[in-house]
Amino acid sequence: MKGRIFSGIQPTHGIHLGNYLGALRNWVRLQDGYECVFCIVDLHALTLLRDAGAMRRNVREVAAAIIASGVDPERSTLFVQSHAPEHAQLAWVLQCVTPLGWLNRMTQFKEKAGKNRENAPAGLYTYPVLQAADILLYKATHVPVGEDQKQHIELARDIAGAFNRRFDTDLFPLPEPMIQAEAARVMSLRDGTRKMSKSDPSDMTRINLVDDRETIAQKIRKAKSDSVMGVSYDPASRPEASNLLQIYAALADMGQGEAVARFKDASFADFKADLADLTAARLGPITERMRALMAEPERIDAVLADGAERARASAAPVLAEAYEAVGFR
Ligand code: TYM
Repeated sequence: MKGRIFSGIQPTHGIHLGNYLGALRNWVRLQDGYECVFCIVDLHALTLLRDAGAMRRNVREVAAAIIASGVDPERSTLFVQSHAPEHAQLAWVLQCVTPLGWLNRMTQFKEKAGKNRENAPAGLYTYPVLQAADILLYKATHVPVGEDQKQHIELARDIAGAFNRRFDTDLFPLPEPMIQAEAARVMSLRDGTRKMSKSDPSDMTRINLVDDRETIAQKIRKAKSDSVMGVSYDPASRPEASNLLQIYAALADMGQGEAVARFKDASFADFKADLADLTAARLGPITERMRALMAEPERIDAVLADGAERARASAAPVLAEAYEAVGFR
């Protein structure tokens, strides 16, 4: 084994193509070389989703999507964050070694809090410290994420270093972000300068793993395009065309250059038709497996209960070491 992986995904909504290409698909591949721990981070989701019914539904749906994508819960540990209370416990300890100035620099807080910062929940502000606790609790060496999480992983490194220095220990290894070159940042179908996101109010901006073939085709047909002849990759002047090309290349497992060569003389409409077919062909089998799993919620719950037990067995001794280092034991 080349190291230990930790990664997480929020159950704020279902999973979209950005989550799949930017993160999930890599989780599946990494299972071969690493010991993997994957977490559905409901404590993080609570910063913005405060609807108990939706939380319960989303946790199961996200678990189904992760398993349907190819994460094997026998080989990897798959669990829900709130089932392992050690996460919140370590987060408190880490909050006490994190300077406010570091949190003030976090761009996601600024984006998510928006203009109404005074009313943003305190949890949204300390969110990245809980994320650091997630990673450090398993002494993870590598964290596979999309580009948007890079700043949080760098903060987790800084927090690990601060803890080790303050308490004169080498308890926490400094985790490395692992960002795949292709599709590290999948953009909205309606605005190629914004990332594809679960929190965008319009469902037409994203492709969800639960979308059927017809919905996928319609969303791609209506995706924003431009009037330049042929399809080319130029994110600065053609952000939408470039995004769709990047999605095509990632789904087809080909280099960007190869995708560009294939469509350089194609009309936008023909390119979109090919992209819709490819997307439906790639996601179709995952969606089918996911639906079958969601029809058996008890099975999902059993997998998650087993995962929580295994997660806690690794997390508890590390929390005990951290408690020991700060003088609680
Ligand atoms: P979340 O739930 O927003 O996203 C889950 C994963 O999907 C990636 N991603 C994308 N990749 C490419 N293009 C996009 N448009 C796109 N949108 C999302 C994210 O980078 C992420 O890898 N804070 C994290 C969850 C988290 C976590 C952790 C991650 C909590 N604790 C510990 C790693 C380690 C988040 O909000 O991800």
